[in-house]
Amino acid sequence: MIKIKNINKSFGGLKAVDGINLEIGKGQITAIIGPNGSGKTTLFNLISGIVEKDSGSISLNGKNISRQEDFQRSESGISRTFQHVRLFKNLTIREHFEVALDDDKNLLKKIFSKNKDSGDEIERVMRLIGLEKNIETKANDLSYGQRKLLDIGIGIVKKHDVLMLDEPVAGINPLLRRKIKELIKVLREQGETIVIIEHNMEFVMDLADRVVCLEQGNVIFEGTAKEAQSSKEVLEAYLGK
Ligand SMILES: Nc1ncnc2c1ncn2[C@@H]1O[C@H](COP(=O)(O)OP(=O)(O)OP(=O)(O)O)[C@@H](O)[C@H]1O
Ligand SMILES: [Mg+2]
Repeated sequence: MIKIKNINKSFGGLKAVDGINLEIGKGQITAIIGPNGSGKTTLFNLISGIVEKDSGSISLNGKNISRQEDFQRSESGISRTFQHVRLFKNLTIREHFEVALDDDKNLLKKIFSKNKDSGDEIERVMRLIGLEKNIETKANDLSYGQRKLLDIGIGIVKKHDVLMLDEPVAGINPLLRRKIKELIKVLREQGETIVIIEHNMEFVMDLADRVVCLEQGNVIFEGTAKEAQSSKEVLEAYLGK
């Protein structure tokens, strides 16, 4: 699905992503872990085109997307959420979804030409994220957790091949964390390909088919969640050598 070849990105003298090679398998949940500043978000930014690579290539379903702008990659099928949720505080949940769908004019055309109301899709995702009662609520009046859910919902509602979630449960209470975990499980059952950055190991263990650990912009571990738990490399990355 996604093939990353020797991708590099430096900020000044700092190698944030240092020659990463990675394949993201279709229909799988891949978790990206690693200590603060290890390059996880930068890797997401490189994949989604928010940050320009210094070198290397990224392909999606066999097509090289490395030279595409971020909105083109979104049209190509990359959908993502942000570590620090970006919402319009005066827009309602429904309006956020409409804006998200409107970004993708072709999709909207497609929806209308099939004579299918985009409202159906919005309703489906609203029910999925469990915010259907809040559809007319402004983002400003949502709790922190509800904002995280809305951000995930926006990522889902856009037509996509891969959904990338940057710390979807950071700072969220255990109840909502469980809810988001269940939501991600449902998405996997629906065949979604998901890449998830997360520090919460319990969350990762329950969800990930595969775990990739970064340290200082390098992949230092790849394996199952269980293997990650007993990996010396992973432990040292988090605790220091
Ligand atoms: N736009 C930028 N300009 C300068 N430095 C940056 C920029 N973005 C990231 N960095 C630096 O690159 C390194 C990797 O940052 P990144 O945000 O990718 O880490 P992360 O693994 O997502 O960390 P966290 O777990 O704290 O979110 C850090 O040292 C960070 O300060
Ligand atoms: Mg980050």
